[in-house]
Amino acid sequence: MITLGEYIIEKQHQFPNATGELTQLLGAIRLAAKVVNREINKAGLVDIIGATGVENVQGEVQQKLDLYANEKFKAALEARGEVCGVASEEEDEFVSFDSARSDSKYVVLMDPLDGSSNIDVNVSVGTIFSIYRRVSPCGTPVVLEDFLQPGHCQVAAGYVIYGSSTMLVYTTGHGVHGFTCDPSLGVFYLSHENMRIPDDGVIYSINEGNYLKFPTGVKKYLKYCQEIDPASNRPYTSRYIGSLVSDFHRNLLKGGIYIYPSTASAPKGKLRLLYECNPMAYLIEQAGGKASDGFNRIMDIQPTELHQRIPFFCGSQNMVETVEAMMREYSANE
Ligand code: AHG
Ligand code: MN
Ligand code: MN
Repeated sequence: MITLGEYIIEKQHQFPNATGELTQLLGAIRLAAKVVNREINKAGLVDIIGATGVENVQGEVQQKLDLYANEKFKAALEARGEVCGVASEEEDEFVSFDSARSDSKYVVLMDPLDGSSNIDVNVSVGTIFSIYRRVSPCGTPVVLEDFLQPGHCQVAAGYVIYGSSTMLVYTTGHGVHGFTCDPSLGVFYLSHENMRIPDDGVIYSINEGNYLKFPTGVKKYLKYCQEIDPASNRPYTSRYIGSLVSDFHRNLLKGGIYIYPSTASAPKGKLRLLYECNPMAYLIEQAGGKASDGFNRIMDIQPTELHQRIPFFCGSQNMVETVEAMMREYSANE
């Protein structure tokens, strides 16, 4: 039984000039995950369910657990000194850590609680994180450019899924590895080393209630998923939880595609490039899959603002390529 801490130290040699800082940083994320996990498990017993009555900068209602998770992750990341700043879905602006060590070079971008509308109904939620090296000089306050880096610059990314068991899944560019928490010990053990997504899957995940607002390419793809063709295992199976982390995790293990496209009312889609799409894109590529905005690789997109939204197509390589071909074919007429 290998613990997360042991595994990270064992793999530390994979980083050129490793100083142990990234190891410390992942340790901070592990700690905050345990604290949030404990609180989520008590939901229903303590007063942590429901809305705060406040909206975040993106006009979404903030849940009490959104803010709780945001504070716990921020505090854990600040405490050890390796991180000089964070950007969070729940913060209007990026946060600079004054107490960071003068040589600290990492910034963290996060969705502290993903799928928060599912908290009240005891359905899995998650945390998503993305780590970059700052581009501004060490020892100075962080600047916006430190956070607006394309996804291919990520040093590490991952998520925690607070599900029927709690797991932490991460990549540092050497495959995707999953750790399951033993709740009696509060220890994450390696349970899924080198996770790979099948090139073809039979699951498609999309909020089909928005069908009439989808681009034609997506509508055509959904009809393709529903056609009867035993040779290609169609019709596929529809599965949509409404927590990106949970939908992603299932598709990663079983093969499938997750789509949150542009819609007539939300032309840029719903998901956030920096906190949701880039980290998931890094993970899916490391697992052998693909992530796109329908036309371009997600990790090549140059972000222009912190809370930027982007259409998202992510999952098994052949499935993403099939829908991309349909997007290309029909986009000219729209
Ligand atoms: P968040 O809770 O961080 O705001 O994210 C919710 C996201 C994502 O987790 C999920 O896949 C999607 O929103 C669901 O959106 P719809 O309810 O529009 O399907
Ligand atoms: Mn989210
Ligand atoms: Mn969130």
